[in-house]
Amino acid sequence: AGTPYLKVTPSQLKTMTGRRGKDAWTALGGRVYNITPYVAFHPGGGPELLRCAGRDGTRLFGEIHPWVNYEGMLASCMIGMLVEEGEERK
Ligand code: HEM
Repeated sequence: AGTPYLKVTPSQLKTMTGRRGKDAWTALGGRVYNITPYVAFHPGGGPELLRCAGRDGTRLFGEIHPWVNYEGMLASCMIGMLVEEGEERK
């Protein structure tokens, strides 16, 4: 059986900004994370973390702290995989 992860497109991701009552999602290395529970705990502060909300944060994350093991830290926050537009229906 396949893993029941959500397939998330960039346009869906774009709505999950952490603002206006929405959760904050980001994509890192092709995985999509709901980072809402982590906002209050991020050592660099909530606003900094939220710069990667609603978009693919891989490059920004890597520019700042490539040594941080996000896969381990955010394992329980992983909700899906980033896919191309249209792929979510397949
Ligand atoms: C520090 C995690 C995204 C900016 C840290 C640290 C962790 C962490 C564990 C401490 C690192 C250390 O002391 O070696 C994460 C995770 C992220 C994320 C899991 C994504 C889900 C971001 C983004 C930005 C950012 C998008 C900025 C645009 C910073 C800064 C610090 C920091 C400036 C340094 C804080 C300090 O030492 O004063 N982050 N981060 N982080 N993060 Fe992030």
